[in-house]
Amino acid sequence: MTLFDSHAHCDDARYNSEYEGGTDKLIKDCFESGVVNIINIGTCIENSRASIELAHKYEGIYASCGIHPCEALGRDEVDGIICELEKLLRDEKAVAIGEIGLDYHWQDVPRDIQLLYFEKQMELAKKLNMPVIIHDREAHGDCLEMIKKFPEVKGVFHSFSGSSEMARELVKLGWYISFSGTVTFKNARVPKEACVVVPSDRLLIETDSPYLAPTPHRGTINMPSYVRLTCEEIARLRGVEPEEIAKITMENAKQLFKIK
Ligand code: NI
Repeated sequence: MTLFDSHAHCDDARYNSEYEGGTDKLIKDCFESGVVNIINIGTCIENSRASIELAHKYEGIYASCGIHPCEALGRDEVDGIICELEKLLRDEKAVAIGEIGLDYHWQDVPRDIQLLYFEKQMELAKKLNMPVIIHDREAHGDCLEMIKKFPEVKGVFHSFSGSSEMARELVKLGWYISFSGTVTFKNARVPKEACVVVPSDRLLIETDSPYLAPTPHRGTINMPSYVRLTCEEIARLRGVEPEEIAKITMENAKQLFKIK
């Protein structure tokens, strides 16, 4: 069974201190486990650049570049940052803009600044005709409102935490939905319900490594090879074989990110 992890941060500094052999060993182990493709995700200019470098080093890795809502800087910096981002996104291994969106759980960045960076990156996605990867934490209403302003832009809601109703609405709007290790958590009623209503052609899986390690590794550092556990849980909930979920999520990721 080969798998596609649609969202990981393999260049995260934690791998150099908490994983023996660091990022390169992590990726080698991941390929050996059957996870053959990864979208490596940026959250700021610096690690978006690192994502591109990683993607050039490994054939199976692709880069997504973007400014996470918690990494948004000032109003005066936004145009310069968008310009830098656009240069990175012109790279042949850059396949998406993300992660971008809204995070109302952490209060460090004011909402108006988060909304500004989100909107500017949606405009960039429209200009470059690229898919986006959305981070939506406790901001479902405002995220929906923003994507509806850009009907030409499509993408994926990553580590989906919304309801089944929201999942249905996103599908109707032409979006993909990605589930992470949270779907394996024992009391995760909402994602367990949502993952069964998503049609087969819109489903993605991910780890969000090094965060959100699935059961039974909860609380430890996460890694792309654990995407198998999310695949197996979704298969169990949908009443199909894990191989089928592995196959459709691989096809869907290739379709969304325009990978041959
Ligand atoms: Ni992430």
